[in-house]
This record gives sequence, structure tokens and C-alpha cells, in this order.
Amino acid sequence: MDPVLLLVLSLSCLILLSLWRQSSGGGKLPPGPTPLPIIGNFLQIDVKDIQKSFTNLSKVYGPVYTLYLGWKPTVVLHGYEAVKEALVDHGEEFAGRGRFPAFDKAANGMGIVFSNGNRWKDTRRFSLMTLRNLGMGKRSIEDRVKEEAQCLVEELRKTNGSPCDPTFILGCAPCNVICSIIFQDRFDYKDQNFLNLMEKLNEMTKILSTPWLQVCNTFSALLDYCPGSHNQFFKNFACIKNYVLDKTKEHEESLDITTPRDFIIF
Ligand SMILES: *[C@@H]1O[C@H](CO)[C@@H](O)[C@H](O)[C@H]1NC(C)=O
Repeated sequence: MDPVLLLVLSLSCLILLSLWRQSSGGGKLPPGPTPLPIIGNFLQIDVKDIQKSFTNLSKVYGPVYTLYLGWKPTVVLHGYEAVKEALVDHGEEFAGRGRFPAFDKAANGMGIVFSNGNRWKDTRRFSLMTLRNLGMGKRSIEDRVKEEAQCLVEELRKTNGSPCDPTFILGCAPCNVICSIIFQDRFDYKDQNFLNLMEKLNEMTKILSTPWLQVCNTFSALLDYCPGSHNQFFKNFACIKNYVLDKTKEHEESLDITTPRDFIIF
């Protein structure tokens, strides 16, 4: 068969297929811009200003609309009212997490942030109970926050009122409160381990918000077979995981079951 004819035939098949999928699912999904086969609505989104693109689309389709990110239909909730109605008024139904291949690959679907279903429910229940016993809502965590606030003020005082960029130090403070709960102690702001952790976390957040990672999450095979910044993300994740595992072992050796000091979950 003529290769051009073959190409035209397969392309029209793809388009028909995608139109059919849209119309068959159309009754259930909110309205949205018409997607193209394979790339979905990527052409209607400006990857450099995703927020603005979403705002623009919400003006046309209302606060709840469907976007195809690749071939994956995604329902966008735009604005406070829609988000509150879903996450607060119908919290139970919206408690699930979408699939996030980068995290699935890094954490094997474990942990409290990206797990789902019963695993998530159990992890959450156990975490809440443990944190309550450790003093969530009681004084001991408040004390940790106060101690950190003191240190933050000290650190800012060192600048003697001269202009400075507080971004880094303001990020350190909450990170350190979390560290003091999971590792029992806070870190000094100059501690090399702490600086390493912060640097790795910051780098991961940066990588996560790149358009490339969004593409990888849509076409998850890229994560396994392509070079790119996602590999740095996995490297950092593994590094932090190893650090936490080392700490866990250390703490296990000196554990007193009757007075648990900290809560490490990974
Ligand atoms: C949003 O809409 C405005 C006005 O129509 C337009 O100027 C702007 O380029 C659009 N922005 C994006 C990111 O689509």
C-alpha cells in the first residue's frame, strides 16, 4: 500500500477514535476546549503561564472544566468557591490523589502525601494518632515552633538591619520545625547536613514545577527511558531517603518504647 495513503488512513483513524472517546465520555465530564489526538489541549495552554491560561479558560467554560493533558482528561477546579465546594463540602469524595508517575516511581506509592485508598487512610490515621500523642495541638510542638522563631529572629538580627534576601532563611525555619519533630533536634542554620537537605528539597521543587516534568507525568514512559532533569529529581529523592533511613537506624538503637521522642515516616 502507498505509504502516504497508509499515513492518512491511520491519522484519520486516530482522529475518529479521539472524537469517539470524547463524545462517549462527554456526557459525564464538564465542558472544555476540544482536544487534539495525542497532545490533547497542550496548544491551548501557555506552559510559561499556566495559571493565566487556566484563568482565561475559566472565563469561557466556567469554574469547572475539562482539559486534556495529553490523552489524560483532567478536570480543573478554578477559583475559591469551586475548590472549597469540592475539598471542604465534599472532602470525603475528593480525598483521592491523581496518579503522579514521578512520585509513584520515587516512593512506590507509599508515604502520606502520594498514597491512595486504604493505604492512605491507614497511614493518615496512624500519623494523626502518633502526632497527637507526641503533642500536636499540645504544648510540646508549640515549644518547638517558639524555639525556632527565636532562632530565626536571632539570625535576622545578625544582618544589623541592612537589606538582605530572607527567602532562604524563611524557608529554613518551617523545615527545621518539621526536622525537630521527625529527628527530635533542630539543625543549626549552618549545619552542612541541613544545608544539603534544603538544597536538595529546593532543587526538587524547582524540577517538579518545570514544564518537562508535566510532560513526563503525562507520558510516563519518558521517566524510564529519557535523559533529563527527572533523573536529578530521583537522585535527590534517593539521597534524602538514605539520610532519613540512616537517622532511623540511629534512633532505633536508642529507642525507649515507653517514651517515643520523634515520628519518622517514609
Ligand atoms: C489570556 O487572555 C488575555 C486577554 O484575552 C490574553 O491577552 C492573554 O495572552 C491570555 N493569556 C494566556 C496565558 O493565555
